[in-house]
Order: sequence, then structure tokens, then C-alpha cells
Amino acid sequence: MKRSSSPEMPDSFVRNNISLAQYTTWGVGGAAGILFSPRNRDELSVTVKRILEEDKGFFVLGGGSNVLISDGDIETPFILTTEMSGMSARVSGNDIFLDCLAGTRLSSALSLSVRNGWSGLEFAAGIPGTVGGAVACNSGASSGYVGQAVQKIVTAEADGSVVEWSGREIDWGYRRCSLFGDEMRVAYKITFALRLSEKNDVARAMKTVMDKRTSQPVSSRTAGCVFKNPPGDSAGRLLDASGCKGMTAGGARVSEAHANFIENYGNCTAADILSLASSCRRRVREKFGAALDFEIRTLGIPEEAIHAQG
Ligand code: EPU
Repeated sequence: MKRSSSPEMPDSFVRNNISLAQYTTWGVGGAAGILFSPRNRDELSVTVKRILEEDKGFFVLGGGSNVLISDGDIETPFILTTEMSGMSARVSGNDIFLDCLAGTRLSSALSLSVRNGWSGLEFAAGIPGTVGGAVACNSGASSGYVGQAVQKIVTAEADGSVVEWSGREIDWGYRRCSLFGDEMRVAYKITFALRLSEKNDVARAMKTVMDKRTSQPVSSRTAGCVFKNPPGDSAGRLLDASGCKGMTAGGARVSEAHANFIENYGNCTAADILSLASSCRRRVREKFGAALDFEIRTLGIPEEAIHAQG
């Protein structure tokens, strides 16, 4: 771990009363009292430090593809990372070190990889969202997870410093990264360690992963899988076998394609999604005795609603 200290910056990137629905793939979420969109490392550092000096927590928003934000006004400050975007690569023999700012789309890193024949991220084909979100959630698919490809992460810390973490000192679990648990820090830059390979092989491997996604409702407004897979089983299978496909609540509907996806098919609200999720949870509990936990991150949702079985 290497540490450096932070400078002061103006508040030119702060906005008030911002509708969050525009920043989530579900298209739901109330209004943020305050939203920071830092554009570089110094602005990010100052943002994190200032918010925490005022004794507030914060919520980090990347591509908004894995979050459920409540419908009302939200006091918690938001840090939107998408203004910090860009990539650069260093080549050393067959080793490629791809630096991505946290707000860069993961799909951009994949496009660059496939164009150059860089191998290491093929499993992530079709995963939406930003690189920062992907490491914070350790996004993945059956053939791999993002943490496996991370060489290092640079973060902005609560005290205003910037810290560089080696991928090896991070504990990666199922949809979990030890850096972004309860700690108040934000990813600034992620370096992936990739290998030079044949362009056709990389393209073919990505296509194989994409072909598997044909069972997922990729063109609907969703937030990916809603529930985590319980150990040794699939939430989608349990939900399907419990008769959840096609169930609705307001404008929210369980996908007919894959039962672990909830679609916003008609101006749904966060309350609709929560109500539908709790009905699904109850069905699976009644039929299989299995408890389903959210894979999605929530904000402004009371703890009892997160676990409700309605
Ligand atoms: N299944 C059903 N009915 C359904 C959905 C699935 O019977 O409605 C069955 C499938 O036939 C299969 C099994 O359940 O036998 C597993 O399904 P699938 O291959 O779709 O994988 P999954 O476990 O549901 C996981 C990840 C996905 C990732 C896929 C592909 C989780 C919660 N989900 O889904 O990740 O895309 O593997 O690798 O870990 C996400 O994280 O948002 C996500 C979509």
C-alpha cells in the first residue's frame, strides 16, 4: 500500500436536487439532495474528505446497473463516478497493464481488449456498468470474476489521501471486494493485468459468453440479477420453479426469460420492485425453505423491507 496526501479544490462539480432515476438502469430512484461528479483524482479526494468531515456517509453511483434507490428525497450525498473516464495501456512483452478510471464503462475495456487481442476479461462480456462498480461488486459470471484480473486499485480515502492497493492484498468473495465493505473509500483507477493473445481467440471466447446471455432479458430495463445465488443453487432456478415468472407489482414484472431479473415495463417505482421482490422471496421460502438475499445494492430502503417476505 502506498499513500499520498490531497490538495484543496473548488466545488464546481456539485449539484443539488438531482433526479436519480436518470442514473439507474431500472430508471427508478428519488431525488438526491446533493450529488458530486468529480472529474479527476483531486476532486474525488476532496469530495470524499469533505463529506466525511461533515459526519455524513455517501453512496457511490457508477453505471447504476446494480442498485435500487428508494423513491423519496434522499439526504445521503451521492458521488457519481462517470465523469472520471478513460483508459491507457502499458505493454511489456506479452503482459498488458490496462489502466481504467473508475467511471469507464466495463464494455469499453472489453472492446479495447478484443480489438487488440488482450486476454483476461472475456468472462465479463455483456456485464453492464462501470469498471469501478464491477470491482466494488466483484462482478462476474460462471467463468470468472473481475477480481481475478485486477493488478492494482487506486482509491480515495476518508482522510483525503490516495492509496494504491495491490490486487493480491484484496480479499475477493462472491460479489464482494474487501476494500469496499463498510470502509468509506472510492475507487479512482483500476489496473487490469492482461496477456497478449490471438484476436480471434479473444473474440470467440467473448462470443461464447455472450451466447450464454441469450437467456437473459438484455434489452429490458433491469438491474441484472436481483438475488444472489444461494450456495450450490441458482436463485433463477428456484424463482422459476416457484412460479415467479410473469408476476407483477405496479410497473415491475419478473422476467419471462430469466426469473432472477425484474423488469421495469411501465414506469415502475422502487416500491413496486420491493413489493415484487418480497413476494418472490416468500414463494421461494414456502416452496424450498430457501432464503434469498439481494445481490443488488440498496439505498434508502429500510432494513425490514430488504428482507421482507410479502
Ligand atoms: N434457470 C431456470 N430458470 C430461470 C433462470 C435460470 O431454470 O428462470 C436455471 C438455468 O437453466 C440453469 C441455472 O438455473 O440451469 C443457472 O442459470 P444461469 O446459467 O442463467 O445462471 P445464474 O446462476 O442464474 C449467474 C449470475 C449471472 C451471470 C450468469 C452467467 C448470479 C446471481 N447470477 O446467473 O450474473 O450472468 O450466472 O454466468 O450470480 C448478475 O450478477 O447480475 C448476473 C446476471
